[in-house]
Amino acid sequence: MKKALAAAAVVFSAVLVWCPPSHAIDTYAAGDAATGISTSRHNLGGTGVFTRTGNTTEICVFCHTPHHSNTLSDIKPLWNRQTSVSLSGYTAYGTTLAGTIINNTDLGSTTLACLSCHDGTTTYDNLVNAPGKNGVEPNGSDRAWEFITLDEVVSDFMTSSRLNIGVSLSNDHPISVPYKDTVAGLRPTDTVINDIDLTTGLASSAFGFDGGNLNKNLWAVKGYISETAQISDLLRETNGEMRVECSSCHDPHFNNKSWNEVDATWSSESSTQEDESNGLFLRRVGGNTGSGVCRTCHNK
Ligand code: HEC
Ligand code: HEC
Ligand code: HEC
Ligand code: HEC
Repeated sequence: MKKALAAAAVVFSAVLVWCPPSHAIDTYAAGDAATGISTSRHNLGGTGVFTRTGNTTEICVFCHTPHHSNTLSDIKPLWNRQTSVSLSGYTAYGTTLAGTIINNTDLGSTTLACLSCHDGTTTYDNLVNAPGKNGVEPNGSDRAWEFITLDEVVSDFMTSSRLNIGVSLSNDHPISVPYKDTVAGLRPTDTVINDIDLTTGLASSAFGFDGGNLNKNLWAVKGYISETAQISDLLRETNGEMRVECSSCHDPHFNNKSWNEVDATWSSESSTQEDESNGLFLRRVGGNTGSGVCRTCHNK
């Protein structure tokens, strides 16, 4: 009996090993739209599969509104949330090795947008223009909605230590840092991302790894997977300088699941959608395989 069970277990695990992943690796080609927010962790409405509320089925409303967006904070685009804390509540990176100084007043709009959830101080439902006819509060107000994850009521703001970036940005990759191509091995801003050579000299396995994404180096830019985008397309302007912001490396709408490390964390057993992992919203097809995200800007 025990033997039979053991044999069955072997067969079962063999079957699991042979199951094709729910999403094939490298499913994105140039020209594809960088889609998938509705199936990602950024769908907080009732149709979402992870953290969600029963109070609305809208998806975009947690971040954007077509009218009455937050002008008090000057956050774009069409931002529908309260800004978490005043700028002075953050700690910017400070001074880099090359002597570049980043102050709190340099923090860019799209970074403050991400932080309006990811610094762990503002509730997900702190909205300016509530869905439907539910009213406008100029700098947002907490709508007192209940959120659930895996059928358990959860906190309505970021508590996960992995996902909570916090108000100190001093332990994160320099954010809102101006991009100067004379330091840190940074490539010229007019470098075509797709032309960057990330494979020469690597083991031959690197060429085919995860769908060969190190050869292609495709990034999502302006909502599409692009083979013509330049590094300048990843930068955003604040205080007259082009800077690296959260949205340089991440696209909050792109449910990017194009690399092994992410696919491997998909649930193979119960396969309820709620167990599934997301692709960290990285802009690069293949994620950070071979440190492709880092080496796109840094010629290291
Ligand atoms: C979790 C927050 C969040 C949600 C939800 C969200 N967005 Fe965005 N959106 C952003 C941020 C942040 C930016 C700025 C990104 C950048 O700098 O590239 C943005 C930019 C955009 C842009 C302009 C840049 C681009 O990528 O095309 C469009 C269009 C857009 N969003 C549409 C939508 C629509 C439509 C929805 C709902 C289906 C949606 N967004 C949901 C955060 C969000
Ligand atoms: C409306 C609130 C909100 C905003 C704004 C927002 N996020 Fe998120 N984000 C979330 C939530 C909620 C989760 C999932 C939390 C959980 O797993 O319980 C998440 C998850 C993530 C993850 C992890 C995904 C994974 O697979 O584990 C990343 C990366 C991320 N967000 C980046 C960003 C970036 C970058 C921005 C700005 C461009 C942004 N977020 C803006 C709410 C937000
Ligand atoms: C220079 C590129 C870059 C910038 C800028 C950047 N990120 Fe990330 N982020 C990454 C990479 C790469 C990963 C995946 C790391 C890994 O594989 O563990 C990541 C992971 C994350 C995660 C998941 C954390 C984890 O370890 O699971 C969150 C949340 C996140 N980023 C949010 C943000 C927010 C918010 C900002 C702006 C304050 C930001 N990121 C700016 C590159 C960047
Ligand atoms: C969008 C372009 C871009 C990407 C992608 C990027 N960086 Fe950077 N990185 C910069 C800029 C700009 C600076 C600031 C250089 C300066 O002025 O000192 C920087 C600085 C750094 C520094 C030096 C910080 C200091 O205090 O001097 C390190 C280390 C670094 N990056 C590592 C990484 C890693 C690791 C990744 C991948 C996860 C990465 N970078 C991805 C643009 C980028």
